[in-house]
Amino acid sequence: MNKTELLKEIKSKCENCYSCPLGDTRTNLVFGRGEVDADVMFIGEAPGEKEDLSGEPFVGAAGKLLDKFLEAVGLDEKSYYIANIIKCRPPKNRDPKPDEEEACIGYLREQLSVIKPKIIVCLGRIAAKKIIKPDFQITLEHGKWFKKGDYLICAVFHPAAILRDPRRKQAMLEDFEKIAETLKELQ
Ligand code: URA
Repeated sequence: MNKTELLKEIKSKCENCYSCPLGDTRTNLVFGRGEVDADVMFIGEAPGEKEDLSGEPFVGAAGKLLDKFLEAVGLDEKSYYIANIIKCRPPKNRDPKPDEEEACIGYLREQLSVIKPKIIVCLGRIAAKKIIKPDFQITLEHGKWFKKGDYLICAVFHPAAILRDPRRKQAMLEDFEKIAETLKELQ
């Protein structure tokens, strides 16, 4: 099976997943989108309202801002894959609960093992705590590289956090520039 077929298989498992209560309240599963051969994979937290309605990650206001940072450093849709820790929307966009993350993380691991990116970028504190380390501090450690197995991993602010506090824009741009440079070095 090729990568697209393998991902389709994982997606259909997710579509039939009711391992946590979010399976009952979702409108659509939000599996992931982008290039299956990408060297970089972005990982967000969980779908919001627009994502739940469309079935695609990062299509709302945070996603539109993310697109601007990606564009600014020359990363187009062909160069990345994007998914979330949680594949179904938590009610009223509350933070995912630890048991919901635990129920869902296996699917993300399966996506990673198919896509095999060189770099993982966690979007925000929730993804960073799950993927990098439980005591990750986004304000102190954003933009720092961590090596885990075959992956080079870093975290940046969640784009929704930039919308709430635009003073973080410059730091975000610098982190994205670093990510694009590192990606070039690895290619
Ligand atoms: N925020 C996230 O973390 N993920 C999305 O898909 C949308 C908003």
